[in-house]
Amino acid sequence: MSTRTVKIDPTNIKRVTTQTLQEMKASGMPIAILTAYDYTSARILDDAGIDVLLVGDSASNVMAGHETTLPVTLEQMIYHAQCVVRGVQRALVVVDLPFGSYQGDSKRALQSAIAVMKESGAHAVKLEGGAAVVPAVTRIIEAGIPVMGHLGLTPQSIYRFGTYKVRAREEDEADILRTDAVLLDQAGCFALVLEKIPASLAEAVSKTVSIPTIGIGAGSGCDGQVLVTHDAMGLTKDFNPRFVRRYADLSDVMGNAVKAYIADVRSRSFPAEKESY
Ligand code: KIV
Repeated sequence: MSTRTVKIDPTNIKRVTTQTLQEMKASGMPIAILTAYDYTSARILDDAGIDVLLVGDSASNVMAGHETTLPVTLEQMIYHAQCVVRGVQRALVVVDLPFGSYQGDSKRALQSAIAVMKESGAHAVKLEGGAAVVPAVTRIIEAGIPVMGHLGLTPQSIYRFGTYKVRAREEDEADILRTDAVLLDQAGCFALVLEKIPASLAEAVSKTVSIPTIGIGAGSGCDGQVLVTHDAMGLTKDFNPRFVRRYADLSDVMGNAVKAYIADVRSRSFPAEKESY
C-alpha cells in the first residue's frame, strides 16, 4: 500500500480552515500561529501570511497589564475577537474561552462558545485542560464549533501549579498528558496546543495524535508553533523565557520614535509648513 503525501503551499491558500491545518500536518508543512487582540495588528499579521491568529487570554497580561490570565472576562475576549476578525481576510481566528467560562459545567461552556462565535464572527475556540474538559469539548463540537485543546502549562491553572516551570518532566505527569492528548483527539479537537513540556514528549504526542500539535516551549517536533506577538516583537521587554525568540525590538523602536516626537514638539520643528493647512 502506498502512502500519498499531499503537497500544500500555504501562500496559495485564500482562507485557512481547520481542514487546511489537518492537510498541513499531513504534508509536513509547519503551521505558524501568533496571538492578536486588535484590528491594526491583526491586519499586519494576516497580510504577512500568518496561518492562525489566536485571540489569547494572554490579553489579560499584555493588553490589560494583569499578572495572570485569570481576570479577563468573556465580554472582554469577545471585544478583542471582534476587533481581530475585522482585520483578517485569510487566517483562521481562534478565541480563548477565559477562566470561569467553561470549567466544570459543559452547558455553560457551550453557552460561552456560542457567545464567542455569534458575537465576534471568529472561527473556533480554545480551552485548557484534559479529561476534565472532555464533556465541554464534546458538547461544543456537537454544536458545530471547532475546538482547539491546550495541555502542559495551562496558565489558567497557575495557582494549582504554583509556578511557571516546565510541566510533565516526571513520568506520572507525562503519562497523564499522553492520555489527555488522545482523549482530546478522540473528542474531536481540531488541534492541540502543547505548552512548556519536554521536546521529546511533545514530539511523541505529535506522532501519536491525528490532529496538529502546536508548540510553545515544546520543541521543534510539534506540527506548528505559537508565540505571543508582544513577546516575539519585543514589546514585552521584561519577559524573557528561553522559548521566546525576538524577531524585532519594537519597544526600543517605539520608545525612540516617541523621544524624537517629543523633541520635535519642544523645538517647534513639528508641525512644519507642509504638515499645516
Ligand atoms: O493566551 C495565549 O496567548 C495562549 C498561547 C500562549 C498559547 O494560550
